[in-house]
Amino acid sequence: MAIDMERAEELVADFAGKEASVTELLLDIQDEFNYVPEKVLEMVSEKLHVPLEHLLGVVTFYNAFTTAPKGRNHIKVCTGTACVVRGSRAILETVISELGVEPGEVTEDGAFSIESVHCFGTCAHGPVIVTAKDFYGYVTQAKASDIIDTIKEADEEASE
Ligand code: FES
Repeated sequence: MAIDMERAEELVADFAGKEASVTELLLDIQDEFNYVPEKVLEMVSEKLHVPLEHLLGVVTFYNAFTTAPKGRNHIKVCTGTACVVRGSRAILETVISELGVEPGEVTEDGAFSIESVHCFGTCAHGPVIVTAKDFYGYVTQAKASDIIDTIKEADEEASE
C-alpha cells in the first residue's frame, strides 16, 4: 500500500511549533499508518532537522512503535517450542491460507497482518493466538478459522 506522504507532511506541519516531544509526533504517525514507515521518518528528519539515527533510536526503543506495516487487525500466532509441540505450525498455516498473506505482510485491503511470535509466556494454554483485543488458548485449526471469520465480520461491519 502506498504511503500517504501528504498526510504525513500534514502531521509534521501540525506538530511544528508545538511544545511536544518528537515521540508524540511519532505516535501520531503510528496511529495514522498503523506503523512508522521509514520513508516518513526520513521526511521528519529532514523537515525537523532531527538526525534520522535519533528517530530510529526512539522507534526501536519503545514497544509502542513498529516499523513493519500492520493491518487493522494484527494476528499474532505463537510459534514457540511449547506451542509448536501442540500443533501451532498447522495453525499458522491455517491463518496464512485464510488471509492469503505471510507473516510480516499486510492484506491488500489493509485489513489483516500476521506475526509469528516466539512465546507469549502462556505456554500452558498453547497453541496461542493473540489479537489486539483477545487472547485465545488451546487453538485448533478449526478454532483459528472461526477466529479469523469473526474478526473479518467485525471489520466489515466497522467499515460499513
Ligand atoms: S511457546 Fe507459545 S506461549 Fe510459550
